[in-house]
Amino acid sequence: MLSKCKFVAGVQDKRSLPDFLVPEVAFAGRSNVGKSSLINAVTRNRKGARVSSSPGSTRQINFYLNEGVLALVDLPGYGYSKASKESASSYMSLVEHYLLTRETLHRLVLLIDSKVGLREIDMDFMSWLEEHCVHYSLVLTKIDRLTDREFDDVLSAVQGRVEGCCMLLRPIIGTSSKSGKGIKELVHEVSKCVKE
Ligand code: GTP
Ligand code: MG
Repeated sequence: MLSKCKFVAGVQDKRSLPDFLVPEVAFAGRSNVGKSSLINAVTRNRKGARVSSSPGSTRQINFYLNEGVLALVDLPGYGYSKASKESASSYMSLVEHYLLTRETLHRLVLLIDSKVGLREIDMDFMSWLEEHCVHYSLVLTKIDRLTDREFDDVLSAVQGRVEGCCMLLRPIIGTSSKSGKGIKELVHEVSKCVKE
């Protein structure tokens, strides 16, 4: 059901946020974690969202609309050390504004690179979400780079660290945009938001 998503807006400032009336599912996480790739994988669109091996490639909030039913939202990544402090904080203030004010936001999906695991900056972002009562799901990305055993270890480690997180919606899904693993499960979770 997500394969008809089309890019409709790229937003760099608070005043330009589009006023769609459909449920939105937003993808957040560190730079280079695989947000744009995952949006392409769930929409089965190879050329939709811009993917790059250099971090910080998505610098605005990008909206992909699926026939007026649902919108997927690609958020700029955090923790990109080469971005100037000023531009990094202006992205973050845009992201924070979006997360705090967007009435149509039905689900925030927070991506964690399975090879890297949870970093302090992810924990800080999750604390911010908890503090502001923003519900979120966790998705482990790039699991094609791990053996099944390594994946189980990372999943248990992450589960251990998020035990007390009240805003976290389970399950935690492992995905690979490359092999397609976990994509069906994620599409299923995302699709539920339309019915909520
Ligand atoms: P920013 O926009 O910079 O925040 O990055 P992003 O989170 O959108 O990441 P993006 O999708 O651009 O991917 C970053 C890099 O990771 C690219 O080189 C991708 O090819 C690679 N990548 C993304 N998903 C996967 C995956 O599932 N497996 C593997 N092996 N590589 C992946
Ligand atoms: Mg991106």
